[in-house]
Amino acid sequence: MIAAEDFTLAPESAPAEPEPIAAAPGTLDLRHGDCMDLMREFPDKHFDLAIVDPPYGIGEGSRSRGMGTSCMSGDYALKSWDKAPPSAQYFHELRRVSRHQIVWGANYYPQHFTASMGWIFWDKMASGDFSDGELAFSSFDRGLRKFTFAWMGMRQGNMAEKEDRIHPTQKPVALYRWLLENYAKPGQRILDTHLGSGSHAIACHYFGAHLTASELDADYYAAACARIARETAQTTLFPA
Ligand SMILES: C[S@@+](CC[C@H](N)C(=O)[O-])C[C@H]1O[C@@H](n2cnc3c(N)ncnc32)[C@H](O)[C@@H]1O
Repeated sequence: MIAAEDFTLAPESAPAEPEPIAAAPGTLDLRHGDCMDLMREFPDKHFDLAIVDPPYGIGEGSRSRGMGTSCMSGDYALKSWDKAPPSAQYFHELRRVSRHQIVWGANYYPQHFTASMGWIFWDKMASGDFSDGELAFSSFDRGLRKFTFAWMGMRQGNMAEKEDRIHPTQKPVALYRWLLENYAKPGQRILDTHLGSGSHAIACHYFGAHLTASELDADYYAAACARIARETAQTTLFPA
């Protein structure tokens, strides 16, 4: 198992107007803990962009997904983290520490968002009982964008799914890669308050963005760190 400190950089005190960090690209500061404690450490607008995927409050973590889940065994452990959506204080703090925000599941708690042109639709190319995809609010003043990537969320073995599945609501690395390519620049500071499986961290590593992230659940955190170590050991994840 990978020790947390392998991924931890000392938090730096940044100026109010952050410049891109001079350190090597793609650094990961991954914390086991509550995101409210994490955000409290940082000054206003420290992060260029927050890409977050909080609990939607629909009980996802406590549903069986057909393949089970303990992070360690290949079965997803049934957990209760998705009972309630984030509080108003969470969104206040998120906007305080970041210049821009992309928030998955924002359609489940629309009261926390103002009108925006820049919603993002992830088309999962799903059929049957699954929803067609997922929505994210973005604070960017640009048109609605669609990312198309098959990801049934059910079983490994789908031709479009090549990733190690360790979390019940894991999003694909390809989705985070697309978000970074379209909404971020290498060298920027990125925040993820709800890390989950670590897909976002793998994408940031290869994109060259500096990610600070937290995950409250000890099992998910350990499994994410192990996965990130495995998947960033390659020189190139996305060969040309
Ligand atoms: C929707 S999942 C994130 C999935 C992630 N986007 C992925 O691709 O794997 C939300 C995660 O937030 C974690 N979590 C819940 N409350 C939290 C909190 N207050 N601080 C940090 N993490 C939290 C849960 O344990 C869960 O792993």
